Amino acid sequence: MPQRPATRPEVRIFEQADAAHEAALAELRQLGNGPQPALVSFATGNTYTAMLRRLHEEMQGGRVRLDRLIATHLDEYCGFTADQRGGMVHELISTCPSFGAMLQRRTFVPVPSDGHEASLAGHERELQRLGGVQLQLLGIGRNGHLAFNEPGTPFESGFHVTALAPTTREDARARFTPLEVPTAAVTAGIATILAARRLVLCAFGSGKAAAVRAMLLGEVSPQCPASAIRLHGNAVVLLDRQAAAQLDAAAAGAMG
Ligand code: GLP
Repeated sequence: MPQRPATRPEVRIFEQADAAHEAALAELRQLGNGPQPALVSFATGNTYTAMLRRLHEEMQGGRVRLDRLIATHLDEYCGFTADQRGGMVHELISTCPSFGAMLQRRTFVPVPSDGHEASLAGHERELQRLGGVQLQLLGIGRNGHLAFNEPGTPFESGFHVTALAPTTREDARARFTPLEVPTAAVTAGIATILAARRLVLCAFGSGKAAAVRAMLLGEVSPQCPASAIRLHGNAVVLLDRQAAAQLDAAAAGAMG
């Protein structure tokens, strides 16, 4: 990956997560007007649940046109199928049922959960063939992970199989109970994520405040994978007050 200078992403702080979701939906609506269907890579997790519910309504109402978008996503637990509770595709379809219709029409391109090298290379090629990711939605783990790029993952990584960090597995416990949380996942790499035209990262709640501070104000380093977004140049970070709580006023003011 060529060395890029670190930049300061735009940071927007909202009173409520709802307003941040609205800002993310506005980005999606804009894309629908382009000359060709836009490839959007969605993130999963609690951060996006309410937004994905609203997205389904937007799609039903024709305000976000299904035929103008191609959907993909960041990551999947190893070996998980679309109908398996706890999995990312299952989560996307159950939260935003429009994705189910897109899957049938093959305009939803799932991450290959077998993790085979050939499947992952094929997936990367398919994303390229579809014009590359125009909009990449992102969350952040409380350990600073991006997708399932855990601390220490080289920034040069493409799609790969990874072992999940203990905090990541702990945070995922509720979605699998009473079953055990998987130990491995397939994830887009940092280089894959940085190749998207536009990044939108959302973080809400006090549990994310330290990770948000490290991402924006700490060293740009694989120790905080999310700090890689500062190498992008076209990224926006949408926060609520709690997630922004550790950004000192000067930094938040300068960024806002
Ligand atoms: C998960 C996902 C990430 C997600 C993050 C935050 O492990 N792999 O893509 O952004 O953790 O999840 P949540 O929104 O539930 O806090």
